[in-house]
Amino acid sequence: MRAADVSPELGRSAHQLAETTCANCHGVSGRSISPTFPNLAAQTVPYLEAQLRAFRDQTRADPDALSYMWGMASQLNDATIEAISTYYAAQTPPRAKTGDAKLTARGKQIFEEGVTSQGVPACATCHGPQARGDNIFPRLAGQHADYLVKQALVIQRRLRAAPVMHDVIKDLSQDQMRAVATYLESLSRARAKTDNTRGRGRCHPAPRAC
Ligand code: HEC
Ligand code: HEC
Repeated sequence: MRAADVSPELGRSAHQLAETTCANCHGVSGRSISPTFPNLAAQTVPYLEAQLRAFRDQTRADPDALSYMWGMASQLNDATIEAISTYYAAQTPPRAKTGDAKLTARGKQIFEEGVTSQGVPACATCHGPQARGDNIFPRLAGQHADYLVKQALVIQRRLRAAPVMHDVIKDLSQDQMRAVATYLESLSRARAKTDNTRGRGRCHPAPRAC
């Protein structure tokens, strides 16, 4: 879904829903304060759509997804999911947050090169060189470190269905997750080179099959 595909009327109501309801947790324009609540600003459209559908059909089933998002997503029809995803993808990305320098450097190495001895591939191959995301591969740059570690754990423990990621991080230690997350939170506001508001990509509309 391109921004242009959302009717002005639907765009306005999605904007309103975002800034009245979703903003209570995800912050103004999708830049949240607390790491319990992920930043949504500048996230890719296909990823946002896939997650909202996964909450709605209850396949994303970690405890916080269940308590916070199942009810929310049950209220959303497909047209609203497209419109609100398009809205968030167009917002200014969150600010970077600098963390411990050693941890950041270690995380950068894991992100860019993987960990060959543990069979962990480079995260950058899917999430992009600056973690800006592309299509179904979410933007991770500027995301809260605590949220990223929590998601890495629930994916590793298979509480959240994410087929590609299960294999990628099955052997990543919690220390390594913390290092990568610290690096990712420190990345700048830069946007993806490809347009994240563009929705129809090579894997859409069945991202889980990719
Ligand atoms: C009461 C708080 C709350 C409200 C209101 C809320 N959310 Fe969420 N949302 C959360 C939490 C907590 C998570 C993280 C769930 C987890 O840890 O799996 C989340 C996750 C998400 C994600 C997944 C992000 C990612 O990076 O994977 C999307 C997309 C999302 N919410 C969209 C919305 C939209 C759209 C609305 C409004 C219709 C909304 N949320 C309203 C609490 C909330
Ligand atoms: C083969 C491609 C691939 C590689 C390599 C990869 N990822 Fe992912 N990652 C994905 C996909 C696809 C998703 C979205 C899963 C879904 O739809 O639920 C994802 C989701 C995530 C999420 C959840 C984001 C959110 O907002 O909830 C985190 C965290 C993550 N990846 C971290 C990493 C880290 C750290 C590495 C490197 C160790 C890595 N990924 C390597 C494909 C990949």
